[in-house]
Amino acid sequence: MQAEPFTTAPFVVGKSPATNDHIPIEETLCPVLSHEWVNAEYKHLIVEASPKALAVRPGQFFNLLCPSPDSGELWLRRPQSVYRIDRPKGRLEFLYKCVGRGTNGLATLRHGDDLNMVGPLGIGFTLKPEWKNIVVLGRGVGLATMGPISQLAGENGVKVTAILSARSREFALGADLFAQVGDVIPVLDSDGTSAVENVEAILKRLIADQRADAFYTCGSNRLMQLMKRLGKEHGIPGQVAMEQVMACGLGPCYVCVRTFEVDGKKELRRVCIDGPVFDLQEALGW
Ligand SMILES: Cc1cc2nc3c(=O)[nH]c(=O)nc-3n(C[C@H](O)[C@H](O)[C@H](O)COP(=O)(O)OP(=O)(O)OC[C@H]3O[C@@H](n4cnc5c(N)ncnc54)[C@H](O)[C@@H]3O)c2cc1C
Ligand code: FES
Repeated sequence: MQAEPFTTAPFVVGKSPATNDHIPIEETLCPVLSHEWVNAEYKHLIVEASPKALAVRPGQFFNLLCPSPDSGELWLRRPQSVYRIDRPKGRLEFLYKCVGRGTNGLATLRHGDDLNMVGPLGIGFTLKPEWKNIVVLGRGVGLATMGPISQLAGENGVKVTAILSARSREFALGADLFAQVGDVIPVLDSDGTSAVENVEAILKRLIADQRADAFYTCGSNRLMQLMKRLGKEHGIPGQVAMEQVMACGLGPCYVCVRTFEVDGKKELRRVCIDGPVFDLQEALGW
C-alpha cells in the first residue's frame, strides 16, 4: 500500500507534491516575498502561495500562525482576509494593522521566512452577473478586505466606486488598487468628510445616478448601519464582511458567534464558517 502523507503535515510551497485534491482547505508554508511598512501602523505582506490558497475567493480569509513577538507562546492563529490575489504570479497579499501580540509577531517575518497559513476559510462575497455598478465602502482594516471583490468586479467589467473612510489621507489604504477598477472617493476625519451625513449624501448621489446595483462594506458599524438603511429604502442588495475575534476559525469552538436577524427572528451564527460575509439586511450592529 502506498504511504499517505501525515494528514497534518503542512503543504510546503515549491516543495510538496499536490495531495488531497478534493479538500479545498490546507495548512500551507508560504515563503515571504516582500514585507513592508506602508505607514506607521500597517504592513503589506506578499507571499508565494499554493494552488489551493490561490483559489481563495473575495472576502474569504486565512488563519495565520504568527511568530511570537516576545519570549511567550502565541497559541491562537489570527484571521486575516486577503488584500490582493495575483494568480498569474502565484502570489497573495495581505494588508494588516499591527494592534497586538499576533500582528506584531507577524510583523517580524522577513523575506524568505515561511508563513504558516490555514485556508482559504469562510464564505466570501458574491457578485451577480446583472450587477454592472457596485459601491464598496470600507474603513480602517476593512479597506483591505474590499480589495479582492473590487479586483473581481474589474475583471468582469463591473464599475466600482470605492469610498475609503480613514483618519487622514495616509490611512486611506489601497487607493491605487481601487483606482484601477473605478472611482475612488476618500472621506477623511482630518477634513470632516468622513461624517455619516456626508457619506450618506455621496451614496444617495450614486443611487440617483444608477451607479449602485449592490453595496459592499467592511470595517465600521456606523457605515454598515448607513448602507443597511439606504439599501432597505432603495431596494439595493448588500453584503457585509464581519470582523470578529476568532479562535479555531473552522467552526467547532463557537468563539465567533454573533446575533443576526432573519425574517424578524434572531439567529446565532458563527462568523468563521457561516461568514465572514453576510447579507447586509440580516446583520446587526456591534
Ligand atoms: C475574517 C477576518 C478578516 C480580517 N482581516 C483583516 C485584515 O485584512 N487586516 C487587518 O489588519 N485585520 C484583519 N482582521 C483583524 C485581525 O484578525 C486582528 O487585528 C488580529 O487578530 C489582532 O490580533 P493581535 O494578536 O495582533 O491583537 P490582540 O492583542 O489579539 O488584539 C488587539 C485588538 O484587536 C482586537 N482583535 C483581536 N482579534 C480580532 C479579530 N479577529 N477581529 C477584530 N478585532 C480583533 C482585540 O479585541 C483588541 O482590541 C480580520 C479579522 C477577521 C475576523
Ligand atoms: S472561531 Fe471557532 S467556531 Fe468560529
